[in-house]
Order: sequence, then C-alpha cells, then structure tokens
Amino acid sequence: MKGIILAGGAGTRLYPMTKVISKQLQPIYDKPMIYYPLSTLMLAKIRDILIITTRDDQPLFKKQLGTGEEFGLNLSYAIQEEPKGLAQAFTIGEEFIQNEPCSMILGDNIFYGNDFVKMLQEARSVAEEGLAVNFGKKVKDPKRFGIMELDDEQNILSVEEKPEYPKSDFAITGLYFYPSDIVEKAKLVRPSKRGELEITSINEMYLQEKRLKACLLGGGFSWYDAGTNKSFIDANNFIYNRQEERGEIIACPEQIALDNGWLSNEQVFEQGLLMKNNAYGKYLMDCAKKKIIKK
Ligand code: DAU
Repeated sequence: MKGIILAGGAGTRLYPMTKVISKQLQPIYDKPMIYYPLSTLMLAKIRDILIITTRDDQPLFKKQLGTGEEFGLNLSYAIQEEPKGLAQAFTIGEEFIQNEPCSMILGDNIFYGNDFVKMLQEARSVAEEGLAVNFGKKVKDPKRFGIMELDDEQNILSVEEKPEYPKSDFAITGLYFYPSDIVEKAKLVRPSKRGELEITSINEMYLQEKRLKACLLGGGFSWYDAGTNKSFIDANNFIYNRQEERGEIIACPEQIALDNGWLSNEQVFEQGLLMKNNAYGKYLMDCAKKKIIKK
C-alpha cells in the first residue's frame, strides 16, 4: 500500500500568513502541520509516501522531511504545477503508485480519536480487497465539504461536492483509501463546473460500481481541516490542550516509527539527544528508554 500527502494549493484563504511559507509547513502547536497527516499514514503502516507540493514550496518540504530516513520512511516528492484538483494527485503519482492500493490524505487534515489505528488498518484491508473507503464525520457546516448520504446501515447512497442543499451532515474528510485501479479511475475524471478535477468524481465512480464504503468517525473524535484561520487556530488550541493534559506528543513520527519497528530505540534516542533542550527531544528519549525497559 502506497500513501500520498497532497500539500499543494495556493493557501490563499490564509493570506498573508501563507504568502512566503506554505500552510502545511506552519506550526500546529509544536510541530509543522504536515507531521499530522504524515503520522496518520504511518499509523496505517504505510511506509512509501509521496509528498505533492507546488514547485516553489518543494525545497522547504525536502529540507523539513528529507528522505524520510529519520522516520523510518521512504519519502518521494512530486510537483503539482497548478492546483487543478485533488483527483490529479493520482495521475501525478502514477509511477509512484505502480498499480498498488493507495491512500491519500490532505496536508491540512488532522485526525485524533479513539480506535483510529484500528479504523485505519480496517480501511487498508478493505482497499487491499478492492473497495474504496471514505471517512465521514458529522459537521455543522456541510455546505463547506464533500458530503456522503447514508442509509440506516451506513451504506453510502450518494456523494456530492459542496452541495447547495446537503442531503446529510456527514462530511467526507480528506483521508481516502483506494484499491489498485485508482489511477485508471483518476484518468477518467473531467473538470467540474468550478473547473477542478474533483475527488468526489472518483468516489462517485466507485459508488456506481458498489465499491465505496464509509468509515464513520464518532462524536468524540476530533477532525480539523486547518484551511481557514478559525480551523487553524482551533487545531492549534486542541493539540496544545490535549498534549498538556496528557503529557504526550500527538503526531510524533519518530515514536510511531519506533512502535512500528521501523526505528530502533538507539536511533530514536539519538534523535532525541539532538533536541534534548526541548519537550519534543525529551519525549523521544523517554519513548526510547521506556521501550528498552519493556524489553
Ligand atoms: O477537508 C475535506 C474536504 O477537502 C472534502 O470534504 C472535500 O470533498 C474536498 O474537495 C476538499 O475540500 P476543500 O475545500 O478543503 O479543498 P481545497 O481546495 O481547500 O483543498 C484541500 C487541500 O488540498 C488544500 O490544503 C490545498 C490542497 N490542494 C488543493 C487543490 C484543489 C492541492 O494540493 N492541490 C489542489 O489542486
């Protein structure tokens, strides 16, 4: 299974904040925004990840994340010349995907909640069996999102991009799992009325073939699409409060890599040492030590 983080776009909704630094490199409390979607893919045990950005922004993403070695990952990079729509990620990523199942997450989507790892692993298995999975979450402002209409058994009846009259309050979040024919499907997408290659068109194709499943995030689950000033600050406050409350670091790729067995205790400890004067570094050293004690 491959993974894509789509982190392009002009970020104009956050101007002037994003005039120089891309949204997805800006901090959500103590780490860059992209650490959150990166961690989500890692929790789904995805190791080969393609990061799609604008041409201008790519050098900074490479500086931030490198080859992925320090997270036990294989990172690749690609450029989206113009923000032509989310579905374009799969044609840009064609060579990288190599006819494997593939997950995609938007670079500004932050997920946190109970049983998330279980849900991710289930979604992954479903995609490996040939079906697509969309994650749904009840929202107050459904006109802002792609929307899934559901029957009583949580089967998807329809999907619609930012409908004027939403048929439900369930937003389709920016996390998708697709089977190995995803690139084929992406090639069939034509621009929508607003001129974009919509991810919703891909979901619609899978729905027509009865190959689209919903995974619903419950009321206690937190999801942020940090693309507006309000949701950006809400996400910052949430992570700050949660981390302070729990004394843990959310979306820490080194710790996830350690848990997944992709990095050794020694490697994580060494990385912690490089940042030993801050909470992140201390957390890494603690995680590495705890793992040694557990052994
Ligand atoms: O966050 C969930 C929503 O994301 C879904 O409910 C919608 O179905 C989906 O279309 C998308 O809606 P947005 O209005 O949030 O899409 P936006 O155009 O803001 O793009 C989302 C992110 O993807 C944003 O951080 C920029 C990036 N992007 C966007 C486009 C259109 C790209 O990297 N390339 C693009 O071509």
